[in-house]
Amino acid sequence: MTTPVLQNYRQKFAKALSLALPSPLAEVEKFLKPAEEVHGDFTLPMFAWAKQAKKNPAQLASEIAPQLAVEGMEVKALGPYVNARLLPMPFGAEVLLSTRQQGAHYGSGTSGAGKTVVIDFSSPNIAKPIAFHHIRSTVIGNALANLHRSQGWKVVGINYLGDWGKQFGLVAAGFALFGDNTQKHNMRHLVDVYVKANAKAEEEPAFDDKARAFFARMEAGEAEALALWREFREASLVDFKALYARLGIHFDAYEGESFYQGKMDKVIEDISNSLGTRVSQGALIANLPYADGEPPVLLKKNDGSTLYATRDLAAAVDRFERFGFDKSLYVVAADQSLHFRQVFSVLEKMGKPWAHHLSHVAFGRVHGMSTRKGQLHLLSEVLDEAQSRALEKVRENISQGKIHTHTPEALAEQIGLGAIVFGDLKNRRTTDYVFDWEEVLSFEGHTGVYVQYAYARASAILQKAATTPSAPFEDTCAGELGLPEEQSLLRWVAKLPELIQEAVEQNEPSFVARWLLDGAAAFSRWYTLGNQDRSKRVLLEDNPRLRSARLALVEATRTALGSGLGLLGVAAPQNM
Ligand code: ARG
Repeated sequence: MTTPVLQNYRQKFAKALSLALPSPLAEVEKFLKPAEEVHGDFTLPMFAWAKQAKKNPAQLASEIAPQLAVEGMEVKALGPYVNARLLPMPFGAEVLLSTRQQGAHYGSGTSGAGKTVVIDFSSPNIAKPIAFHHIRSTVIGNALANLHRSQGWKVVGINYLGDWGKQFGLVAAGFALFGDNTQKHNMRHLVDVYVKANAKAEEEPAFDDKARAFFARMEAGEAEALALWREFREASLVDFKALYARLGIHFDAYEGESFYQGKMDKVIEDISNSLGTRVSQGALIANLPYADGEPPVLLKKNDGSTLYATRDLAAAVDRFERFGFDKSLYVVAADQSLHFRQVFSVLEKMGKPWAHHLSHVAFGRVHGMSTRKGQLHLLSEVLDEAQSRALEKVRENISQGKIHTHTPEALAEQIGLGAIVFGDLKNRRTTDYVFDWEEVLSFEGHTGVYVQYAYARASAILQKAATTPSAPFEDTCAGELGLPEEQSLLRWVAKLPELIQEAVEQNEPSFVARWLLDGAAAFSRWYTLGNQDRSKRVLLEDNPRLRSARLALVEATRTALGSGLGLLGVAAPQNM
């Protein structure tokens, strides 16, 4: 695997600087930054070295710059900075070549080779109404799985279903009152039953006791109770799995909370033998130094039943034993920060050396999500609504002649799901945002469909070009790409490999989403230039070398857009 183009140039520049100054390479790399576009591609401020040499920084910069001969780069001093700019060649040819070689895997690398990451994501609660945070966890987790995989990590994606707890007692007790036996396998019906049962339990403590009693029977392993639980669980799973299939999301394991039934005594024993446990108000708690007012880590309630924290502790230990992970990520709403802080700190105090390889990949809240049916109940309904709203848009655009397709429904599915997924991922994960159907489905905004449209335009240009013979592309043609718009587009393409690394390091898919928006805009700025000036058209008639260079740039852009969309789990339609 060769070093990505931009990284390679940065390294060459850094090495030359390190020799000329002279200064250790690591020191130079620490201060070497991307330059503002007008000044070039890389810049190194001289202040630190000028101070050591007791020189004026501008003077040092002007002494150093002429000593630097870096192939393919122009180096210049500007005030206290030494700047380097990539020359159109061979940089341009290298970028075009690397996209052509990697194709759909453009941006992939090997930094994760031999390493394993466990990603706990989606993890909805069974038989309960769904919340938007499960959609967030699903799309962020899936993007992180793709991003890690692209860098050679072995990814273990786990759906830690909320499939154990009193809510099953509520559904079961509620079913006797509000249930329709013919609808036992209908997830929507079960959720309705849950909602009614929950309301009733709040008014009537006796009903709540019934629910609790049913769950106690489940925990006691009573066959009849478990059989009913299994039926409810299956019904929910059918709904979830259909949704994951629509989104193209795969899990390596569905291991919910119920998986840890009967496996918790061991972890509780290990806790008592390390940090210790104590009894507080009848419950067994982990012996941590709690802050004033901090809720304790409950391991067992006074009735002997285990809790969310107990199960997460058992699961963490089990996952390390089975997968020997280098990292274990929990893609879960920021509301649960305290829970994960406490769980991680118990594991640390248990003496688990891998405890600091666990991270809570937290995300903020979404406000304002509701469907036309009213309150949000099922994940699948959100996707159905996205598809049907997108279809209205698609039809509108077809009638205005803006898009062309023979399969509006299929396109609407790609656009609608893309709107939800991209609309979520473009935000820094920790920020809260307001969901707005019009906004996520707009063809002109910072949206998935805007990026998809750019991808489809690039595909259309290439299809059109294929109908007339053009000169075969030679690498030297890349030197013809002299428009500033072409040079920025090349730089945009070249950024992806390092951007993915950063996204992986910070668990931040939004870096890729933002980059896609930049690229779609840069591409449209470029290919529309020809509307005013014929000499700037991509499909030039009278200059075969330039035409073939421009087509190669369209191809590279299309590859980069497609790769980025794929990493985020958004479809890339050829035609629209
Ligand atoms: N089911 C939980 C919820 O809906 C999320 C589970 C997250 N994962 C975990 N290991 N705790 O809030």
